[in-house]
Order: sequence, then C-alpha cells, then structure tokens
Amino acid sequence: MNLEADLTNFIFLTSMILVCVSGCKPSVKNKNNKKRNLEVKTLKLEFPETLLPDVDKKSGSSLMEALSKRSSARNFSDKSLEISTVSELLWAAAGVNRPDGRRTAPTAVNWQEIDIYAVTREGVYIYNASKHSLVGVEKNDIREFAGKQAFTSVAPITLVFVSNYDKITGRHGDDETKKAFYSATDTGYISQNVYLYCASKGLITVALGLVDRETLHKKLNLNQNQHIILSQTVGYPEK
Ligand SMILES: Cc1cc2nc3c(=O)[nH]c(=O)nc-3n(C[C@H](O)[C@H](O)[C@H](O)COP(=O)(O)O)c2cc1C
Repeated sequence: MNLEADLTNFIFLTSMILVCVSGCKPSVKNKNNKKRNLEVKTLKLEFPETLLPDVDKKSGSSLMEALSKRSSARNFSDKSLEISTVSELLWAAAGVNRPDGRRTAPTAVNWQEIDIYAVTREGVYIYNASKHSLVGVEKNDIREFAGKQAFTSVAPITLVFVSNYDKITGRHGDDETKKAFYSATDTGYISQNVYLYCASKGLITVALGLVDRETLHKKLNLNQNQHIILSQTVGYPEK
C-alpha cells in the first residue's frame, strides 16, 4: 500500500517538474500561429560598419544542381544565419568579382544602381560591395515592413533591392520609363543569384513584389530618387 502511494507521489512530482520545465522555456506564437523558440542566436553586426568575412568561392553545390533545386518557398524558421552565410549571400547577390569593381550581377551601362538593404532582426544595413561590408542604417527590427506576408517577421533576413536613380545617367536612361525598366531588369539578375545561392546551400528564399513600398520607403529613410524594386526573404526551412 505504502509502495503504491510512494509510486503515485513520484509520478505526480515527476510530471509537475516536466510541466514546469517545458512551460518555463521561452516561446512565442508568430503570425502563422506557430510556436517559435525565443532563444534565437543574434547576428553579430556592429554599427556603424561590419567588415564581412572572406567568401569561400569553392563552396556550395554545382550550378546544375542549384538550377535543379531553384524554387520559391515560404516556410521560414526563425533560425539565424551565420555571418559567413550573410557574407556569401551578399557576395553571390551582387559582390565584386573582378579587379575593376564589376559585380556578380550585370547592370546596364555598368550603372550599379541597385543597392541591397539587409533587413534583419538586429537592424537594417546597406551592403557596401567595394568594401564587402555592411553599413548600419537602422537599429530597430523592421522586418514586418519588408513585405506584406507574415513570414518576413519570422525569417532572419529580407533583402530589399533599391534602385538609386541618381546613378542612371546618359541617354540610355534619360526618362522614368527607361529607369524603371533597367532597374527591374538589373534587380532580376541579383534576385536570381540569390535564388541559386540559396538552392546551393540548403537555404530557402522567395522574391516579393508584394511590398508596401510607401511605408517601407519611410522605414528605410530613402530619398525621392531611391525606388524600392523588390524584396527577397532568405532563411532556413521550418522543420
Ligand atoms: C518579380 C516576382 C515577384 C514575386 N512576388 C511574390 C510575392 O509578393 N509573394 C510571394 O509569395 N511570392 C512572390 N513571388 C514568387 C512567385 O510566386 C514564384 O516565383 C512563382 O510562383 C513560381 O514558383 P517558383 O519560384 O518556385 O518557380 C514573386 C516572384 C517574382 C519573380
């Protein structure tokens, strides 16, 4: 009889401890109403500028494998990216790949008019391709404004491609229609580089035309000659 009572007490106590331990773990429901762990690692990015680590240009799957896997996906987890991954991602997107300063993505007349804003949990940064660095511009987490879909608040990074019309000069870009055309075309190459990098490294991504450009323009403190073309979210898939 005593043994039975002891056993009942033991089971009760053990289950109380288990309930407490699992209940004490910090978690929150995201907009998709799924629980996510709050113990996410933060990306160590310094203000005003962080020099990014060297890129391993021999890493990743083959181009043909990456092309086979290239796709859009939206099931982002909140897992942070390592700084080495952010470094590779930005270099793949539009890093300098030749001594004359030309980039992994082509631009009409080599205008190099597309700036990449990295909107992260830790703040917003502009990619400086010539220095391969990230320059901090905003310390707040504005990921929810990077796109209109809930996953931008969950994923660790959304790249925002912003065209600087001041850089589009000469007769090839002498009116607004041409500026918009070249900006969109040049952004497409960058976006596809991001798609292929992600496919080659087990990351997921999706291009986002669905963006509240007016609000994001304000949040990024852009001027009237800077135009948001596209966003693109990057992260790991939720398991
Ligand atoms: C310019 C452009 C804008 C897009 N905008 C969105 C968007 O706002 N939201 C979204 O979920 N997917 C968006 N997508 C992803 C497309 O829906 C996706 O590429 C298409 O369904 C084909 O799927 P796939 O990329 O897996 O081949 C966009 C894609 C492109 C190229």
